Amino acid sequence: MESPISQRCHHLLPSALLRALATGACACAGLLLSLASAAADAQRIEAGRAIAHDWYRGNCLACHQIPNDPQAETLADIGPPIVAMRERFPDRAQLRAQLWDPTVRNPLTFMPPFGKHGVLTEEEIDLVLDYIYQY
Ligand code: HEC
Repeated sequence: MESPISQRCHHLLPSALLRALATGACACAGLLLSLASAAADAQRIEAGRAIAHDWYRGNCLACHQIPNDPQAETLADIGPPIVAMRERFPDRAQLRAQLWDPTVRNPLTFMPPFGKHGVLTEEEIDLVLDYIYQY
C-alpha cells in the first residue's frame, strides 16, 4: 500500500517533469527565434552592404570611407567617414532623412538625395541604414 506522501509524489512528478520539459522547449524555441532574427539581421546588413558598395546603386564608397568595414575599400574623402553612426545620429530617423534627402540639412551638398530622386527604393534605403547603423 502506498503512503500518502508517495501518492502525492506520483501526482507531482509528472507535472513537474512536464513543466521542466515545457520550459526547456520554450527556451529552445526562444533561442531558435532569436537565432532566426539574428540571421535575418545579418542578411539585411549584407544586402545593405551590397547596395552601399555597388557603383550603380548607393555608391557610397565614391565619397565615404567606412573604416570599420574591412570590405569597404576606397580612398574617397569627399564626405566624412561613416563612423560612430549611433552616437552621431541617436535618432535613426534623422540618419534615414540624411540618406533620403541630404539637401534638407545642406542645400549645397554633393551627396545625392537617394530617396527624393528615386535612386534607391524605400526598402533599399532601410537596408543601407541597417548596414551603416552598425558602425
Ligand atoms: C557624391 C558624394 C557622396 C555620395 C555618393 C554619398 N555621400 Fe554621403 N555625404 C557626402 C558629403 C559631401 C557629406 C557631408 C555632409 C554635407 O555635404 O552636407 C555626406 C554626409 C553623409 C552622412 C552624414 C555624416 C555625418 O556625420 O554628418 C552620412 C551618414 C552619409 N553621407 C551617408 C552616405 C551613404 C550611406 C551613402 C550611400 C548610399 C552616401 N552617403 C553617398 C557625399 C556623398
